[in-house]
Amino acid sequence: MCGIVGYIGHRDAYPIIIKGLKRLEYRGYDSAGITLFNAASVVVKTKGKVADLEQIVTPQAKSGKTLGLGHTRWATHGIPSDLNSHPHLSNSGKIAIVHNGIIENYASIKKILTDNGYHFKSDTDTEVLVNLIEYIKTSQKATIGQAVQIALTQVVGAYAIAVVDTDRPGEVVVAKLGSPLAVGIGKDEYFIASDASPFIEYTNRTIYLDDNEMAVISRKKGFKMYSITSDKVLTPKVQEIQLSLETIEKSGFDYFMLKEIHEQPSAITDTFRGRLHVDTQNINISGIEQNKAVFENAQRITIVACGTSWHAGLVAEYLFEDAARIPVEVEYASEFRYRNPVINKGDVVIAISQSGETADTLAAIKLAKEKGAFVFGICNVVGSSIARASDAGAYTHAGPEIGVASTKAFTTQLTVIIMMGLRLGQLKGTIDKHDFDRVAKQLETLPKLIEGVLTCDKQIEKIAREYKDASNFLYLGRGYNFPAALEGALKLKEISYIHAEGYPAAEMKHGPIALIDENMPVVVIATNKGHYEKIVSNVQEIKSRNANIISIVTKGDESVKILSDHVIEIPEVTEALVPILASIPLQLLSYHIAIMRGCNVDQPRNLAKSVTVE
Ligand code: AGP
Repeated sequence: MCGIVGYIGHRDAYPIIIKGLKRLEYRGYDSAGITLFNAASVVVKTKGKVADLEQIVTPQAKSGKTLGLGHTRWATHGIPSDLNSHPHLSNSGKIAIVHNGIIENYASIKKILTDNGYHFKSDTDTEVLVNLIEYIKTSQKATIGQAVQIALTQVVGAYAIAVVDTDRPGEVVVAKLGSPLAVGIGKDEYFIASDASPFIEYTNRTIYLDDNEMAVISRKKGFKMYSITSDKVLTPKVQEIQLSLETIEKSGFDYFMLKEIHEQPSAITDTFRGRLHVDTQNINISGIEQNKAVFENAQRITIVACGTSWHAGLVAEYLFEDAARIPVEVEYASEFRYRNPVINKGDVVIAISQSGETADTLAAIKLAKEKGAFVFGICNVVGSSIARASDAGAYTHAGPEIGVASTKAFTTQLTVIIMMGLRLGQLKGTIDKHDFDRVAKQLETLPKLIEGVLTCDKQIEKIAREYKDASNFLYLGRGYNFPAALEGALKLKEISYIHAEGYPAAEMKHGPIALIDENMPVVVIATNKGHYEKIVSNVQEIKSRNANIISIVTKGDESVKILSDHVIEIPEVTEALVPILASIPLQLLSYHIAIMRGCNVDQPRNLAKSVTVE
């Protein structure tokens, strides 16, 4: 995780870097730092957020510096502290580095450096890397670019780095392996960042470095790119990115999370735009159309993902097996990659990831590819590592999701999954025309239906007030509503710090029912499709143990309503679409409870948006 920003050009670097760091705070926010540079360099860093950093940078330090690097951190090695914050300096004080990633063999390198007289102030792996660069520079009389390259061939791990050296005051060296790095190309100026958001108001011309690529960016010679492993000079591919400033700002909402919850109708419309053709009974996802035979012949599908994206994978399992009759397994990417899974040539592996940077999911893809699988990526971030590592895929087109808690990313992933399920069913001949038509038509109306569900906000705020002090919550659902229950529980725990568990409703009697009493609020997703009578019985069991029941039911429901303390109605849709609609009130419930408890919903403690550590 961590976010890095850099600037070299003719403008004041300080405001560009601070603004950029704020946009990247979703990547980590336990400490922040900056180095600014002209003839002499200054480094300022602190535990805390970018706003805390701003308080301690003096006017002198800021003024007249047209080169700088900044960092916002999510701690891996060493606790959040002033000393462990980036940038880190080499022992001579000449070289400064910002780093996103992990150097796994830092301990053995540290030992060699210590034996050669180096000392260390922090507990970080990054301080080891910057000193390794310095050691190589001085012992091999190398330029900073050469020293970085040689050092990187000796480290094991992941990195996106930017390095400056007072011996070369007009240069920044950047490199990437495993963690993302974008360079914005302006007129006689360059912007460096973990994603393009810090520089979109200056340029839309962007180079995304690939793994094992590095670049020396100099005032005199411009942008020169090399392979880290072979010294080869590379030709950069400049992309025109389409990101507007408005989409990465709060647009009048108090929090990004709330904005993103309310963006779901338009985000879902963007997901199916140009792909869903109800009138002609056609779904066109180019990644599938170009690989029809792969999907038709697949003996099974394995889905790898983490967190919320894993929940979306569970919905895919239910739908693909039902509509396309293909066996599906859903795996936590972090488990899949460390066991020895049976994956054969011809298997399809689907990786789901909002950020497209999740280290475990990326590693699972690599393993699947080694074993001969065809990898299909469902990602939100265009050009992300997972999107690039996949053989084919489908973007969710949800737009930037800044709030750490996933909202629109989840419902747009589900939208892609539903379209895929319908299309695979069509290809396999396992879905009849009538069912295809019904689901496709309902999918098209979802944005309108979500707008309606969003109007229950005030009602949910009231419910939140009643339960904001609870210590535990249980979320229950059956069938397609089970993943929705898991997702509801994850949302609550990650932003309000209330312990919450999601369970298949029928599993309750095998243990969790022991927890139920008058102090345990239970959220039940009990819509009228699927095993409705069974879930009514489950609700009865909960009621007779005095729990407070908050139920999400289909409009017009009677049976669950009379058993519930609070009822949130959603429109009637086919089973597979319910998780999308049911997620909206669950997101709002978590949001309101977290706000009432004084939590920062956009930046919950200990979390980061993009988990690039394993
Ligand atoms: C969701 O609210 C989370 N913050 C988290 O579980 C997230 O879904 C997970 O880290 C996976 O991220 P990805 O979709 O970017 O791969």
